[in-house]
Amino acid sequence: YPSITLFAGLAVALVLWRGGSLVMQEVISLGDFVAFTGYLALLMWPMAALGWTISLFQRGAASWERIGALLNEPAEPYDAGGARPDGSGRVVFEDVRLRKGEREVLRGIDLDLRPGEITALVGPTGGGKSSLLRLITRLDAPSTGTIRLDGVPLEEWDLPALRAALSYVPQESFLFSESIERNVQMGQPGATADHVREAADLAALTDEIESFREGFDAVVGERGVTLSGGQRQRTTLARALLRDCRVLVLDDAFSNMDTRTEEQILGSLRREISGRTVVLVSHRLSTIRRADRILYLDDGRILETGSHADLVAAGGHYARFVRRQRLLEQLQDDESESAA
Ligand SMILES: Nc1ncnc2c1ncn2[C@@H]1O[C@H](COP(=O)(O)OP(=O)(O)OP(=O)(O)O)[C@@H](O)[C@H]1O
Ligand SMILES: [Mg+2]
Repeated sequence: YPSITLFAGLAVALVLWRGGSLVMQEVISLGDFVAFTGYLALLMWPMAALGWTISLFQRGAASWERIGALLNEPAEPYDAGGARPDGSGRVVFEDVRLRKGEREVLRGIDLDLRPGEITALVGPTGGGKSSLLRLITRLDAPSTGTIRLDGVPLEEWDLPALRAALSYVPQESFLFSESIERNVQMGQPGATADHVREAADLAALTDEIESFREGFDAVVGERGVTLSGGQRQRTTLARALLRDCRVLVLDDAFSNMDTRTEEQILGSLRREISGRTVVLVSHRLSTIRRADRILYLDDGRILETGSHADLVAAGGHYARFVRRQRLLEQLQDDESESAA
């Protein structure tokens, strides 16, 4: 820019000097001279704009080139030479480690999640529960170690096939500014309205939605209905349940619901998920004790594994966790009673 300003200034000086002397020699009239300088001033801005547009265009072209390189990158190929998925829905971790920056978030995890079983991950906040679940969905990749689904390492899976096999409810529920029906339907594009209702029933959502004036057509968000935290969670849950998948991954998917609603959902889920692999994170005892197996995870390691009864009897980390959690839940119950 400085050089442009310099040239603009030089041009004005040149015109004044040459034009001035021409006027004095009476070659051109004073009027011509004034008009000419006027035109020059008019020209200045369009020329600057032209330069700016050209530079914008060049920047765009450079960016386009870089985006193009990314878009043309071939998708990860499915390794046809490896083992074929056996369709069981079994998930196996072998010495899995995960680094995030400086920290080692998971430190040597060995796991076997079996079809037909509900496995609950419990432990203090920041222990690595969400990180572990994200690895199953391949949202993150382990730094070392292998994770297999159906006997095939996750990185060898074809992504669409993997997505079809898994259903994941993240810790933070995410809804689009669309109708509730569309929000649920995203779990399985092309699902029929009946199918969507079924999933909503399973997630104990239907009664409340039908009490809205527009029912399932009610739009979520800014200018639509505002859903409560529990309703948002159940909408995301319905989205995940819509899909007939082998592995169900629930990250604290009931945290914003009262115990009754949660029990209702878990009760109907039990029938629905027989034969599937379910892994869930929860802080609530009523959920955790229903699990077939409990893994106590702290600081990136699985410290204890077993059923609720066994682990309580063992009197270790989990037993302490249960005592703390009981007190906490009692306090919350007392609070909600005195509020009512
Ligand atoms: N992107 C990241 N970069 C650095 N550290 C991270 C990142 N994501 C997570 N962590 C760290 O990894 C650890 C495990 O986090 P994670 O979310 O798995 O815990 P969690 O067990 O799910 O906790 P909560 O019960 O609160 O949900 C935490 O200490 C967290 O700070
Ligand atoms: Mg978490």
